[in-house]
Amino acid sequence: MATLVESTKLPRIHQTECLIGGRWTPAVSGKTFETINPATEEVIAQVAEGDAADIDLAVKAARHALEQGPWGRMDARERGRLLYKLADLIEEELNELAALETLDNGKPIRDSRAADLPLVIDCLRYYAGFADKIHGQTIPVRGEYFTYTRREPVGVAGQIIPWNFPMLMVAWKWGPALAAGCTIVMKPAEQTPLTCLRMARLAQKAGIPDGVINIVPGYGPTAGAALVKHPGVDKIAFTGEYRTAQIIMQDAAPTLKRLTFELGGKSPNVVFADADLDAAAMGAHFGLYFNQGQCCCAGSRLFIEDKVHDKFVDKLVGMNKARKLGDPLDPATEQGPQVDQAQFDKIMGYIDRGKKEGAKCLTGGKRHGDRGYFIEPTLFGEVRDEMAIAKDEIFGPVLSVLRFKDVDEIVRRANNTTYGLAAAVWTRDIAKAHRLAAAIKAGTVWINCYDVFDAAAPFGGFKMSGMGRELGEKGLDAYTETKTVTVSLN
Ligand code: NAI
Ligand code: MG
Repeated sequence: MATLVESTKLPRIHQTECLIGGRWTPAVSGKTFETINPATEEVIAQVAEGDAADIDLAVKAARHALEQGPWGRMDARERGRLLYKLADLIEEELNELAALETLDNGKPIRDSRAADLPLVIDCLRYYAGFADKIHGQTIPVRGEYFTYTRREPVGVAGQIIPWNFPMLMVAWKWGPALAAGCTIVMKPAEQTPLTCLRMARLAQKAGIPDGVINIVPGYGPTAGAALVKHPGVDKIAFTGEYRTAQIIMQDAAPTLKRLTFELGGKSPNVVFADADLDAAAMGAHFGLYFNQGQCCCAGSRLFIEDKVHDKFVDKLVGMNKARKLGDPLDPATEQGPQVDQAQFDKIMGYIDRGKKEGAKCLTGGKRHGDRGYFIEPTLFGEVRDEMAIAKDEIFGPVLSVLRFKDVDEIVRRANNTTYGLAAAVWTRDIAKAHRLAAAIKAGTVWINCYDVFDAAAPFGGFKMSGMGRELGEKGLDAYTETKTVTVSLN
């Protein structure tokens, strides 16, 4: 299984150190941690393990770049040009970056190439175009005054990202921050630091000035927490688990940092009997199993209308049985391993609970192979709303199927969750589709499609799925402060 397919060149690994003020340096403590290949469980590289001391140096470098460096004086169009340049450099190295992403994360190379990388490039270009279009308003006020607003960079942005879409999360965070004129201290996920470090190298090559982007790899409770607590950081943008966001909120309270959170979900995917059932089945399959089920917006509660339930489930069983698991560097592979042992154990724990609570395991339920963190695509039927597999975010290839009878029931059940990230509705009845789109409490609703992302379309969560929005023009709000200037005309 670990045989490397000829057409995929193994990527080179250049950057394993912290990037601080334009210099690549080991951690102050001299410590390193291992990043592993989840397909083989072998160590890929030793990476600098940053902690509070490294974060402090990085924050100072970011502050210096913001206030004393060329970045703060650079005109906005020039910032945009540098972002375009970065996107071009990534595009030139697309195949190698995709292979590096696959090596570190385990996602199939076909996805890294066809999904992650193109979305990364698109996101950076989208925000490159925005850099010189971030402007305030002139506001008619009472009296002899002239009032206008300016949109200024929020300052030094601390960015903490997860491992499920390592490069894409970098793009979602850097794009709006750099367009707005902020400087950055980023902590990549400890499971997947390599592509973030490579992107930082390309940012240097693109000419983004020293200190504008600083990277401190390391663990959450050490490096991550130090970044959140640091008084020199103006805002934290975080993507990950809601429990981590709760800790971050507390750690950020003394300095009242601005916070944006993109957290998890238990997104309802609702299939009505009047839908195009083949398209819906493909959407349900893709909406959950894509990226090994490690998606914040995974359609993990699949509600199927009673009338078509059995026939629909048959389609899903067929697709699961045909799904190709294996070496993620093989372009034919559709599903790779989970990212690490901890995620593997968590998912297997939920599969056990599902069986114990009386759900019917229709496909999968077991480990695949004897090396790497592979889990068979798992489908549970006869799931009830109160079961753990219907309530908790599993973040793995486990789909729970629930039945429903009518529209009123489905709105109530779809919203019966602490989450509110995404939802989908499959029907040919457009009135019903729009009524549900309005009634479901979620940041994104897909109608007759799933996982359609675009750099221009805002993304984020209601309820415990997050705070604020990323992407689109809205995504710039997270990185700007509005200043009101009033001039007496007398
Ligand atoms: P996590 O939320 O612990 O990790 C995400 C990032 O936060 C990592 O960079 C981590 O080092 C950092 N972090 C952890 N503790 C921190 C702290 N105290 N202060 C500052 N930063 C901290 O998520 P983890 O442990 O990797 O995965 C656990 C579960 O979270 C998953 O099973 C999944 O359910 C969910 N998750 C959701 C994601 C999403 O896209 N919404 C992404 C990753 C995980
Ligand atoms: Mg964690």
